[in-house]
Amino acid sequence: MSSAVSGPNAPASWRVMPMNPDEAPWSLLLLADPSREKVKRYLRGSTCFAARQTAHFTPSGLGMLVGVAVLVPAQAPQSWELMNIAVSTAWQGHGVGSALLQRCIAWVREQGATRLEVGTGTFGDQLIFYQRAGFRVTGVAHDFFLKHYTTQLWEHGVQHKDMLRLALQL
Ligand SMILES: CC(C)(COP(=O)(O)OP(=O)(O)OC[C@H]1O[C@@H](n2cnc3c(N)ncnc32)[C@H](O)[C@@H]1OP(=O)(O)O)[C@@H](O)C(=O)NCCC(=O)NCCS
Repeated sequence: MSSAVSGPNAPASWRVMPMNPDEAPWSLLLLADPSREKVKRYLRGSTCFAARQTAHFTPSGLGMLVGVAVLVPAQAPQSWELMNIAVSTAWQGHGVGSALLQRCIAWVREQGATRLEVGTGTFGDQLIFYQRAGFRVTGVAHDFFLKHYTTQLWEHGVQHKDMLRLALQL
C-alpha cells in the first residue's frame, strides 16, 4: 500500500513493505511499547512491516523508515497478535498507521488466520484507531500496566493501569 498526502507540513509519499525484524528501529518500537525487554522477546521470530518514505533516499535505497508493525502468532489457534505498531511523531495522523494496520490484516488473512488480536490502553487515541478498523473488545487485563511495566504510562493526564484486549474477526 502506498500514498502521498499534500499540505504545508505533510510528509511526502510513502509505502508499506515487509521488513527484517533485526532492522526495526528502537526509536519507533519504544514509542508503542516502553519495555525494551518485552520488545526484545517478541521481536525475535516476528513478522514485521515497515512504512518507508519513498521520496527520501537512503544508502539502502529503500527510503527512510517512518513506521513499523510487529506481528506474532497468538496462543489461540489460527490467531495472530499485533504486538507493536508505531509511526514517527512527525508523521502521525496522515494515514500511515492505518496503512500498516491494513497490511497486517491482509497478511494474517493470507496465512489463513481467523483472528487478529491486540492489547492497548482502556482510553485514548489508540483505542479509536483500532476500533475504526473494526476491532472489538474481548476482555480486560486488570492492573496489566502496573504489574508488567517499570515505567508509568500517562496519557491526557491519566495513568494507564488496565489493558483492554481487542480482536478483529477475519
Ligand atoms: C497509533 C498510531 C500507530 C496511529 O498511526 P497514525 O499514522 O497516526 O494513524 P492514522 O493517521 O492512520 O490514523 C489516525 C487516527 O488514529 C487515531 N490516532 C491515534 N493516535 C494518533 C496520533 N498520535 N495522532 C493522530 N491521530 C491518532 C485518531 O483517531 C486518528 O483519527 P483522525 O485523524 O480522524 O483524528 C500512531 O499514532 C503512533 O505511533 N502512536 C504512538 C505509538 C502507539 O501508541 N502505538 C499503539 C500502541 S497500542
